[in-house]
Amino acid sequence: MERSEIINLLGSTGIEKEKLFKQAREIRDRTVGNKVYFRGLVEFSNICAKNCLYCGIRKGNSNVVRYDLSDNEILDACRFAWENKFASVVLQSGELSSSSFVKRIDRLLKAIKTFSGNELGITLSCGEQTRETYRRWYESGAHRYLLRIEATNRNLYEKIHPVNKLHSFERRLQALHYLRETGYQVGTGVMIGLPFQTLDDLAGDLLFFRELDIDMCGMGPYIEHEDTPLYECRHLLQTRKERFDLALKMIAVLRILMPDINIAAATALQAIDPAGREKAVAIGANVIMPNLTPMAHRKDYLLYEDKPCLDEDAELCKQCLEARIHLAGSEIGYGEWGDSKHFGSRHAKSSSGS
Ligand code: 5AD
Ligand code: SF4
Ligand code: FES
Repeated sequence: MERSEIINLLGSTGIEKEKLFKQAREIRDRTVGNKVYFRGLVEFSNICAKNCLYCGIRKGNSNVVRYDLSDNEILDACRFAWENKFASVVLQSGELSSSSFVKRIDRLLKAIKTFSGNELGITLSCGEQTRETYRRWYESGAHRYLLRIEATNRNLYEKIHPVNKLHSFERRLQALHYLRETGYQVGTGVMIGLPFQTLDDLAGDLLFFRELDIDMCGMGPYIEHEDTPLYECRHLLQTRKERFDLALKMIAVLRILMPDINIAAATALQAIDPAGREKAVAIGANVIMPNLTPMAHRKDYLLYEDKPCLDEDAELCKQCLEARIHLAGSEIGYGEWGDSKHFGSRHAKSSSGS
């Protein structure tokens, strides 16, 4: 598919759009199947050294109550995932790089592997780190890593981040390459409907994913947050409904471009439409991340406004998502890792020398 064709699909409406959604779902069912895999999301700390201009927990937001779960709280959340046959967890936090942070993650990875007898799969989403840190965490048991590129057009990237060493576009790209080189299943993604973003930028994002040959993708609508600098640009935004619609089209086109990767139905979709995540499942997504963060801290991990599930605990979210996924006509892959098929076939190819 060429850039111009992608742009046309992203701009499609009416019957054309319905055709796109139908095709994406058919491809999903045929390649990765009709199952949705759960990844229990533990947002273990909202302390962040960075100041991304869009994010509610940026360092500069002094209205945020900062928290850092204890090791036991984190392990309890992971145990819930394991006991409920989620098969996999995502440990996510703000970005820190101190040696105590690096060591702590290392310790947690080993503890999770031990209590679950290696059964629980672990994805990390802890930002940019050195190659050594990525290697160390991989060796301690993390096998997937999520690091959104956020925007692949460098100009746009620099409009939504401060331009300094801590927020460098090059460093972000470098980190994605290190992750791949280390052996992780690599997931990335972008925000959709950002101020200044064009359909051409979004087509570029999709082509970038294909070029990088990613294994997983999580992308959702950008949602403004009052306590962030990017809020000043809200007059440039499309309506939330339009951003939602565009996010669904991005997922559908990506499913056609990369049929066998794992695509998450982002939580941000549900901030706009109560049925947002199942709508994504119905058109090609195959991963959902039920929130396992202890309820007392959910309201402090507000990356964007109207984040759902603030008053529902892990058990409720599980039941709620189960019902919604069934309504979308899919099954849940309980007890299965649900690894990216794309990753599996790349490895089969390289080990057979082709
Ligand atoms: N709207 C939507 N997504 C956001 N993220 C951060 N802030 C926002 C926002 N205002 C996303 C980023 C980040 C992920 C953890 O959350 O893409 O990578
Ligand atoms: Fe920190 Fe991530 Fe938010 Fe940026 S997007 S401020 S790195 S938590
Ligand atoms: Fe959390 Fe529905 S998914 S309440």
